[in-house]
Amino acid sequence: MHWIDYRSDTITKPTPEMRKVMAEAEVGDDVFGDDPTVNRLQERVAELTGKEAALFVPSGTMGNQISLNAHTQPGQEVIVEADAHIFYYECGAPGMLSGVQLRPLSGKHGVLTAEQIAAAIRPPDVHQPQTSLICLENTHNRAGGTIYPLEEIQRIARLAREKGIKLHLDGARLWNAAVATGISLKEWCEPFDSVSLCFSKGLGAPIGSIVVGSRSFIERAHYYRKAYGGGMRQVGIIAAGALYAGEHHFERLADDHRHARQIAEALVELPGIQLNLDTVQTNIIIFELNHPTLSPARLVEQLNDNGILIISMGGNKLRIVTHLHITDADVEKTIAVFRQLLGHPGRIH
Ligand SMILES: Cc1ncc(COP(=O)(O)O)c(C=O)c1O
Repeated sequence: MHWIDYRSDTITKPTPEMRKVMAEAEVGDDVFGDDPTVNRLQERVAELTGKEAALFVPSGTMGNQISLNAHTQPGQEVIVEADAHIFYYECGAPGMLSGVQLRPLSGKHGVLTAEQIAAAIRPPDVHQPQTSLICLENTHNRAGGTIYPLEEIQRIARLAREKGIKLHLDGARLWNAAVATGISLKEWCEPFDSVSLCFSKGLGAPIGSIVVGSRSFIERAHYYRKAYGGGMRQVGIIAAGALYAGEHHFERLADDHRHARQIAEALVELPGIQLNLDTVQTNIIIFELNHPTLSPARLVEQLNDNGILIISMGGNKLRIVTHLHITDADVEKTIAVFRQLLGHPGRIH
């Protein structure tokens, strides 16, 4: 069966062209700083994001966690949004690896305001942890791929600077925000002390993320990468896939956004589906199913029987993510199947 797989944009496989450049990549021992392909990737992304330096890392989680460690001391507090990947899906690593406490604040569609953050910053007090870092996420995964308004980020950055607090961005899907808005990566990254970006999500590389920031921050991050077991040797073979992905799969993210929009506009018409179209800004659709006769779990099964894979986000929430392998024909078939399964109110399933 031809599976139409919307479980995540991480499921993409390297294309034949990508595999070819990976196989032919020039390599060296990257722990010695000798891998020319890794060095080229780091220089290229530092330039693209307007930062002094970059560090290639195995995963987005490692990128976030080494950044947290490089910016904080044990016992300090980090402000995050309550649905952030760092808070939700990184195994409690901030406590385990950096000895910091997370302070989750509930945002609207993943967005915290500067006022909300200002109210949560700890005053100087011998009893309280010191707030030393704020982490934002753009685009925001659990909020449905929503884009953080740049002006709000700039307000938060001014507040952070005033208070002497560092600002980190989980930019696993910052590429999507850049394509969707036309705002350059450089403009998106400017307010932050550090940003992590992933090559293995929408860009379609099999492995790899990168952290950018000042030279002194990257030196510290480098130390933690080694400590976490992320020092890799002839890793140019992987960095070549990331370089290829950045060159060939960045602009095409607009196709993923168009596909998500087409699906969302069809879903919103169907009985039992609750979906706020305003949240469908990039390649993720999160919707709720409250149908009289069809449970979310049963819908997932029935889609499965029709060759379509989606995942549950807990409760009645379901998620669809579009990516490199989803075609116009897949989108048409998906809409037709959803209409067939849900399009008749009152039908017994
Ligand atoms: C917003 C966000 N940040 C970080 C990550 C972590 O990336 P990785 O799976 O490479 O550790 C993900 C993964 O899906 C993510 O969605």
